[in-house]
Amino acid sequence: MSTNLQPLNFENSASFAAKLDAQDSLKNFREKFYIPKRPDGEDVLYFTGNSLGLQPKTVRAYIEQELKDWEMFGVEGHFKAKNPWMPYHEILTKAMAKIVGAKPIETVVMNSLTVNLHLLMVSFYRPTAQRYKIIIEAGAFPSDQYAVQSQIKFHRERGHLARNASDGRTKPPQGGTQNALIELKPRESETYLRTEDIEKTIAENGDSIALILLGGVNYYTGQAFDFQCITEVGHKVGAVVGFDLAHAAGNIELNLHDWNVDFAAWCSYKYLNSGPGGIAGCFVHERHAESFDLPRFAGWWGHDKETRFLMGSEFVPIKGAEGWQLSNPPIFQLAALKASLDIFEEAGMKNLVEKSRRLTGYLEFLLGEIHDGRISVITPSDENERGCQLSIRVKDADRNLFKQITKRGVVADWREPDVIRVAPVPLYNSFADVFHFAKILKNCLR
Ligand SMILES: Cc1ncc(COP(=O)(O)O)c(C=O)c1O
Repeated sequence: MSTNLQPLNFENSASFAAKLDAQDSLKNFREKFYIPKRPDGEDVLYFTGNSLGLQPKTVRAYIEQELKDWEMFGVEGHFKAKNPWMPYHEILTKAMAKIVGAKPIETVVMNSLTVNLHLLMVSFYRPTAQRYKIIIEAGAFPSDQYAVQSQIKFHRERGHLARNASDGRTKPPQGGTQNALIELKPRESETYLRTEDIEKTIAENGDSIALILLGGVNYYTGQAFDFQCITEVGHKVGAVVGFDLAHAAGNIELNLHDWNVDFAAWCSYKYLNSGPGGIAGCFVHERHAESFDLPRFAGWWGHDKETRFLMGSEFVPIKGAEGWQLSNPPIFQLAALKASLDIFEEAGMKNLVEKSRRLTGYLEFLLGEIHDGRISVITPSDENERGCQLSIRVKDADRNLFKQITKRGVVADWREPDVIRVAPVPLYNSFADVFHFAKILKNCLR
């Protein structure tokens, strides 16, 4: 996406940061969130919206509404609640679809992220003796690594990968992921992946690739991948292409439908502020909406709504992403997510991305002003290849630096072996936050 903002000559001063805040049309959104406090009562400098987003002040009222409706109506709240529970998840579909650039039929909120990845792999990772490999990032989030490893192991032990194509005989089961898992690594002395290298790996493995599953934005480096190119190249060799959008949803502009992505899943407790363990999102491209022959794990909430309560024994899936649901959803979690998505609707994803680019650009500029050989940014400097997070590598993994900035009221996180992740979030972080952070970091490096 190109930003409408003019390039700025940033200045390293509190007054310049204040000027940027004064010009910021989204500045009042900060007031909609509870900012944790330091012991002296001042706001902390909160930069971990990439881990757990802050609480919208409206969440309590949204959840209380459901408590009240439960109190008043009991089971009849499914139809009589202010937001009837029966179709509650549908109220969120449109807003969530907008955030990931999808059609409503392609989007549903359900379960948790890793659960959704598994459910989607049941349908979209169907290895054969010839086509069985999965491509992921070498530094993928551990849960994604465990998920794909266990999927490969599951299929391998059932002989799906082991059948010898030429003689049709089944080889003895092997438990590991040998040969089936391809991990993309940056080049020696580089910190993130080049799209051309991803393309090359896809071409080299060709029709042996069953699935490409990447984090839309890598949790460690903050690199945003070229979704469209990777999807196109993956499809050319006949692979299915899915993304884990944990660090992308609510952070960068997404166009999952237009990019032709097959499936995606994401959590909502990071940039989407739904609270710890909040309900997750799921995308299945429209072209699979009526692929009822795909294997899937079924549950009654994925069953055709017209006949669900006839309690028949034959599963008839709903068209589209909703057909992947299993259970009736947790209403309090939906209410918490709704409070945040209503704020996203008001702010507008495009406006948020615009501010985000400027805010993170300012952080990058200020880090560049520190001139200390002990820190370096490992996130791409091209704003089309990142979201709001910058990952700062600390020389010799000096964790003391992180401890020092934490002591001064900065909430960031340390990721082993040597990275501090900092994510200024456009909904509630200010340019002044970024300025103060850079100043604290500089002082601690002294
Ligand atoms: C990229 C990524 N994948 C998976 C997970 C695991 O999410 P969950 O515990 O909600 O399944 C996380 C959590 O932070 C994540 O960042």
